[in-house]
Amino acid sequence: MDKNIVWHSATVTRERREKQNKHRAKLLWFTGLSGSGKSTLAHALEEELHQRGCRTYVFDGDNVRHGLCGDLGFTVEDRTENIRRIGEMAKLFVDAGVISLTAFISPIREDRDRARGLFPHGDFIEVYVKCSLEACEERDVKGLYKKARAGEVPHFTGISSPYEAPNNPEIVIDTENRSVEVCVASILEALEQRGVIPTNVV
Ligand code: ADX
Repeated sequence: MDKNIVWHSATVTRERREKQNKHRAKLLWFTGLSGSGKSTLAHALEEELHQRGCRTYVFDGDNVRHGLCGDLGFTVEDRTENIRRIGEMAKLFVDAGVISLTAFISPIREDRDRARGLFPHGDFIEVYVKCSLEACEERDVKGLYKKARAGEVPHFTGISSPYEAPNNPEIVIDTENRSVEVCVASILEALEQRGVIPTNVV
């Protein structure tokens, strides 16, 4: 970074935005294999949060790779840069008072931990979307596992590129044996327990 670049502090602070929003701003970092359900869960959770009046935004792997990260491929180096950019972008969104949800495979523990390091303690909530390779391959929603097995997709996560599961994620969601509704409900409960959103009084 150029040494002549100076940070400008806003008068409208994150705290003021959070007060206006009536909820805390956090980053929910979903990680898991391709086809494990990261995007599905993130969007279903966003729907619930939106209905409760929360300000939200989902960053989705496939979508972000159309634009901001369109120049990146799937080598370890490119994935590291992908995650670095997402982490920095999500940091701005959290500062903007938004409950941000990121749905990227983010297969390398060190990359995720680096993103975590950008946030004050407690603001980065890692959600491990747990689903076996066998089940993801069985689902094969995008037909990519079949192609990867045929050698048509290089560096495919779980087949020819590693996935490192988190050691200490804040939340673990087993999508192999539970419905989307049940998974979303358990994340909402975890968010209520952490005081991110007010308890939903029915
Ligand atoms: S990450 O590893 O850098 O976090 P990201 O989540 O952005 O990956 O993109 C993953 C999506 O890209 C997958 O869901 C899949 O649709 C697509 N994709 C294309 N090629 C690959 C590959 N080699 N490995 C994994 N996903 C791939």
